[in-house]
Amino acid sequence: ARIAVLYGGPSGEREVSLDSGHAVLQTLQGLGMDAVGVDIQPAILQQQMAESGAQIAFNVCHGAVGEDGLLQACLETLDMPYTGSGVLASALAMDKWRCKQLWRAAGLPVTDGILLHRGSHTPDLGARFGWPLYIKPNHGGSSLGVSKVGGPAELDAALQCAFAIEDEVLCEGAVIGHEVTVGILDGQALPPIVIETPRAFYDYTAKYLADDTRYLLPSGLGAPLEQQLQALALRAFAELGCRDWGRVDFMIGGDGRPHLLEVNSVPGMTSHSLIPMAAKATGMGFPELCATILRTAQR
Ligand code: DAL
Ligand code: MG
Repeated sequence: ARIAVLYGGPSGEREVSLDSGHAVLQTLQGLGMDAVGVDIQPAILQQQMAESGAQIAFNVCHGAVGEDGLLQACLETLDMPYTGSGVLASALAMDKWRCKQLWRAAGLPVTDGILLHRGSHTPDLGARFGWPLYIKPNHGGSSLGVSKVGGPAELDAALQCAFAIEDEVLCEGAVIGHEVTVGILDGQALPPIVIETPRAFYDYTAKYLADDTRYLLPSGLGAPLEQQLQALALRAFAELGCRDWGRVDFMIGGDGRPHLLEVNSVPGMTSHSLIPMAAKATGMGFPELCATILRTAQR
């Protein structure tokens, strides 16, 4: 069957997705598969898919349209099998605030937060969360528009930056400790990776541009905490109804307690992305990783 690798699209994570997409496309072609690339244009997706002649979609579009359920709904209407989560789970995973509500109701540990709406009164965030706190576009990705706010003087600029991206903005209390991520592949949790950066936090630059970001794998957290994180990641993933593959991000506080941040239902697949790194640690190279993700779309 011909495979369409879907990448690009209109979101702020377009450049990341082009990187992810080219890596996957070249790898599938290198495996001898009949794969073509499609840079998605929501308005003409149906036509693009027909022109591609593909029977299966390998989706590596990050962010708006590609990761938030819209693309998934288009593919459902075309009756085309695709990699990754379905419509509702994708939409939920992209919505940090509503994820938090579901996880909290399920008894899973989340960071404290509130949702702010453009134009409405902003409560006293410093009194509620203390400093520093985080301001994030609620449906953002790759930390675009995210600020770590050290004190009242920095708050307005942070809110402006996030509201420039969307109408719903999340304010979260900071967990001071380690950032950790757990990949999920075909129902199994991959080894956790601890991320360290000399920057204020693991922002877009630290993710894609800096060469001083450190990835600890093995994580050094010890087997009991690693197992706890893997079990939590699988539960958080299942609670949203996600399937096949994804990545769950956490903060671990100074007391060693994990807090869920978010699920990425189409995580990065670039040469320095986290899922390929974690897969490699289990002995699975990039070609086998791509083939495994593709297989999940075919059942
Ligand atoms: N949102 C980016 C692509 C990631 O989670 O890897
Ligand atoms: Mg994300």
